[in-house]
Amino acid sequence: MQGYENYDLQEEDPYLLSGSTCLINRLGITDTQALNEAEAAISEVAFAELIANPIEPTFNLEHLCRIHHYLFRDIYEWAGQLRQTEISKGGQLFLPYRNIEDVAAEVFYQLQKDSFLRELDETEFAYKAAYYLGRVNMIHPFREGNGRVQRIFLDQLAELSGYAFQWSGVSGERMAAACREARQQKPAYTKLERLLATSIIRL
Ligand SMILES: Nc1ncnc2c1ncn2[C@@H]1O[C@H](COP(=O)(O)OP(=O)(O)OP(=O)(O)O)[C@@H](O)[C@H]1O
Ligand SMILES: [Mg+2]
Repeated sequence: MQGYENYDLQEEDPYLLSGSTCLINRLGITDTQALNEAEAAISEVAFAELIANPIEPTFNLEHLCRIHHYLFRDIYEWAGQLRQTEISKGGQLFLPYRNIEDVAAEVFYQLQKDSFLRELDETEFAYKAAYYLGRVNMIHPFREGNGRVQRIFLDQLAELSGYAFQWSGVSGERMAAACREARQQKPAYTKLERLLATSIIRL
């Protein structure tokens, strides 16, 4: 399936090597495919370290930034920093970057008022988590790496309530389709709800 892995090309993207689709990186790589492979390998090691040694969860935008920084600090200079450009997939823009902080504050305030989803049964938890995943995905705070960051965030949220998600059973296509549904003009969370309800386990 086209369009779920890569962002659309924007007219001007300060994150790309000029005349290329490759992101500027600390590794000196100039080929997109090679960068994707190196990025996957490096962030996978960092991902495992984060699971063993989690970042203190504050469940807000800063928390997302700290996860992002840990995963990508060896690859991108802007690891842990909010994007400063518009991005889109499949022709649809994510949140305008100037609105990231305001919308994130609103979403995470709501999560706090929802008591971080504590004391819900598995299905209720999955359904509410689907709503928040959809909202966080719409924000897409970073130029790259949002999927990995939001899955760790959700893992930490689930752990608070004694749950975990089995992401290995979720294909990129299925996640992308569910995320797409949650960022339509009139967002719907049915696919994300079903996806999380079938991936959640009790610890
Ligand atoms: N067309 C789309 N509309 C909304 N969300 C999408 C779309 N395509 C993909 N996504 C979501 O964007 C996230 C991926 O974003 P990004 O590429 O920044 O992160 P990643 O960590 O590199 O990717 P992945 O989640 O594949 O590891 C995934 O959660 C995916 O479901
Ligand atoms: Mg990616």
